[in-house]
Amino acid sequence: MLENQNLLTVAYIVASAFFILSLSGLSNPETSRRGNLFGIIGMSIAFVATAVFKVDSYGILIAVIVPAVIIGAVLAARVAMTSMPELVAILHSFVGLAAVLVGIGSYLKHEKFPSVAERNIHEIEIFIGVFIGALTFTGSIIAFGKLRAIISSKPLMLPARHFLNLIMILVCVYLGYLFINNPNGMTPLLIMTGIASVLGIHLVAAIGGGDMPVVVSMLNSYSGWAAAAAGFMLSNDLLIVTGALVGSSGAILSAIMCKAMNRSFISVIAGGFGSTGGSSPSSTEQPEGEVTPISVEETVHLLTESRSVIIVPGYGMAVAQAQHAVAEITKLLRKRGIEVRFGIHPVAGRLPGHMNVLLAEAKVPYDIVLEMDEINEDFPETDVALIIGANDTVNPAALDDPNSPIAGMPVLEVWKATFSIVMKRGMASGYAGVENPLFFRENNRMLFGDAKKNVDAILVALSEKNGK
Ligand code: TAP
Repeated sequence: MLENQNLLTVAYIVASAFFILSLSGLSNPETSRRGNLFGIIGMSIAFVATAVFKVDSYGILIAVIVPAVIIGAVLAARVAMTSMPELVAILHSFVGLAAVLVGIGSYLKHEKFPSVAERNIHEIEIFIGVFIGALTFTGSIIAFGKLRAIISSKPLMLPARHFLNLIMILVCVYLGYLFINNPNGMTPLLIMTGIASVLGIHLVAAIGGGDMPVVVSMLNSYSGWAAAAAGFMLSNDLLIVTGALVGSSGAILSAIMCKAMNRSFISVIAGGFGSTGGSSPSSTEQPEGEVTPISVEETVHLLTESRSVIIVPGYGMAVAQAQHAVAEITKLLRKRGIEVRFGIHPVAGRLPGHMNVLLAEAKVPYDIVLEMDEINEDFPETDVALIIGANDTVNPAALDDPNSPIAGMPVLEVWKATFSIVMKRGMASGYAGVENPLFFRENNRMLFGDAKKNVDAILVALSEKNGK
């Protein structure tokens, strides 16, 4: 280990600047690659500086880092785009666990402090860090289970659940008092760790499927604060800065998503406060009306007879990897003078910006990819709304059925177009597990089958028509 505090501080400041540039780059699909690169550079500087100036046992460092790098690289290379949120959730759980272990380890060191006040401050840091860490750890594991469909996405609605949460928090506060006023505070610390772990499970289990995106970004924020707390315990300025950046950007993203989904921030933090859990019969009853299937040929006919088309992609387009063929169809329709635009719901797919990334990858021009707020008013003047693997984000029950688990969530109002055509494999519900009355509307058609297969067939038929 080299001794040079000034150089270490300079390296940490430079790394922090790269992290800020990275966040700013990641805020836009056009600059996101650059943002990622800045993040990698910042993290490399931080890692090298810490290894050179802060580590004195390279044997342990290598023994820990080599397997972690191999496991991380293999997992990241293998993960499908649609499974990214699960990976993110499990990574958040590691940050939480790290904060718990750092806190307990830091307490076991029994450091000497020049004053009682300094010792108390250090112990408060430990207590809060372990609390946030344990909550993040178990909450993220439940989020991982829900996103991977190992655990049901239905909200767990225990009776008096908010009261239970309140009691758990108050007991933790009392344990904090015992911890600080006790020369051997390990017992209250460990009991609090157990209670915070149960609280994390309970808070996330109470969130319904449709609200999971907000929870993932909330946990992202918690993991940032857990890292910042670990930074305080380890007296590491860079960890404090980085943790605060992650914590605050995660909180801002959560607030943006809550606004887009018409949810209150507090209700999501408090584990679905005010949510009915969607147990009402109206949300599970079979909607009235009949399903009208449509063929590929009929779909092509409707599309080519249109003046304006809005394509609404969802999770199914990502699963089918149909985005490139969709981009080709867009080109051919535009060549015929048809106005084609895309309507993107803020939580379409399984991660923020999922559809934007896929469409950018397929080189769909940015200026025809519009956010829900920008395009929703245009459906009544649209001839065909082509819905490719989207379901919850186009569900009219969100507006019409106050008992629906997704009630109040703004959706793309595709049923206002002259025709809506839904492309999906069967009648399965979407992520939120809610029946979709759109499929039974008179002006709706269902093009059943794998999105990629059907989009390819549309592309072939359109190419032939364009060739004529
Ligand atoms: P969903 O409501 O999840 O519906 C996707 C539909 O795609 C399914 O109903 C499925 O029906 C269909 N599908 C699946 N594979 C397909 C394939 N190969 N070809 C054709 N269709 C296929 O999708 P959405 O409208 O994008 O809504 C997203 C949901 O995920 C929301 O509830 C949101 O809250 C939640 N969520 C979002 C995020 C973020 S941050 N975006 C994170 C976690 C959860 P079939 O099985 O019948 O084909």
